[in-house]
Amino acid sequence: MAKTPQDTTATHRKPDLSVSFAGITFKNPVIAAAGTFGYGIEFEDIVTLEKLGGFVTKGLSREPMVGNPPPRLFETAAGMLNAIGLQNIGARAFIEEKLPKLAAKKNVVVIANVFGYSREDYQETIRILNEAEGIAAYELNVSCPNTSHGGMVFGTDRALLEELVASCKAAALRPLIVKLSPNVTSIAAMAKSAENAGADAISLVNTFVGMAIDAKTRKPRISNVTAGLSGPAIKPIALRMVYEAAHTVEIPVIGMGGITTAEDAVEFMLAGAAAVQVGTANFWDPCATEKIVDGLQRWCFENRVKRITDLIGTLEV
Ligand SMILES: Cc1cc2nc3c(=O)[nH]c(=O)nc-3n(C[C@H](O)[C@H](O)[C@H](O)COP(=O)(O)O)c2cc1C
Repeated sequence: MAKTPQDTTATHRKPDLSVSFAGITFKNPVIAAAGTFGYGIEFEDIVTLEKLGGFVTKGLSREPMVGNPPPRLFETAAGMLNAIGLQNIGARAFIEEKLPKLAAKKNVVVIANVFGYSREDYQETIRILNEAEGIAAYELNVSCPNTSHGGMVFGTDRALLEELVASCKAAALRPLIVKLSPNVTSIAAMAKSAENAGADAISLVNTFVGMAIDAKTRKPRISNVTAGLSGPAIKPIALRMVYEAAHTVEIPVIGMGGITTAEDAVEFMLAGAAAVQVGTANFWDPCATEKIVDGLQRWCFENRVKRITDLIGTLEV
C-alpha cells in the first residue's frame, strides 16, 4: 500500500535511538541489567528481545554456583535487598544450553557478566566464553557485595582492580566493560583505575551494601545478614556517581541504579551515560525495558531530540 504524506513525515521524524561504543552498535541505549533478566531467553515470551539495546546475563562463573541459602530477597521502601550470592549454571552450561537459543534470534546483543573468586577464575571464565559465538562483550563484575571473597574485594581496591582488569583484558577476545562498585569513597578514582588498566567501557552502579531486620523475631531479613540494595531508593546516589565517573574518564560509561522510566534513562544520559541498564524494575514489571524503549522514542519526539546521542553529557550546570 502506498504511504500517505503523513506516514512519510512520521518516518522522517522518528528519533534515532542507536548508540555505538566499544565497537558495538546498540539499536537503543536500553540494556537489561545482570541478575535481573536471567539468561535472557527466559524472557522471550514476555519481552521482544530484539527490541532492546541488549541484555546482560546473570553473573557467570567458571563452575556452577548454588548461591546463598534463602531468604535472599527482601523488598524495602522504594527498593530491594538481594543476597543471591551469584547462583548460576556456569559458563560452559551457558554456552551449551542458553546461547544456541539466543543465537537463533537475530540481532540480540548479549553481554556476558563474568564473576570469579580469584584473578585466575575470572581469566578462565573469559577463556571459556571466548570459544563461543554470539557474545558481544564481557562485563566484569568486580562489585558483587554478596560473596565472602572475590567480587567486591577487587572493586574496592585500586591496585587489585588494575591488576585484575589488565589480566582480563589480556585474556578477552571481546570488548571489556568493568562494572564498578558504589561501595567506595571515590568512584572517580576507581573509574580512572579501570580505564588505565585497559577497560573499553565502565558500567555503574552495582548494589549498595545494606541490611534489614525483623524487629519481632530479632533476626536479619536476609540469611546472609547483609545484602545489596537496588531500585529507585538508590537512584540519586547512582546518578551522582555516573556524573562523577563520566567527568573523569574518556571511555564510555553505562549508567544504572533505580531506572524505571524513560525519563530516568534520560537523566542518566544527561549526566554522561552513553547507555543505561535497567535492573530491579524488571521484578515488578518484566516488560519494563521494552516500555522504556518506547518511552524514549516518545520523549525524544516530544522534546525534538533527533538523535539520542545528542543528550549524552549535556547537563547544564
Ligand atoms: C536480584 C539481583 C541480582 C543481581 N545479580 C547481579 C549479577 O549477577 N551480576 C552483576 O554484576 N550485578 C548483579 N545485580 C546488580 C544489578 O545488575 C544492578 O547493578 C543493580 O541492581 C542496580 O540497578 P537497579 O537499581 O536498576 O536494579 C543484581 C541485582 C539484583 C537485584
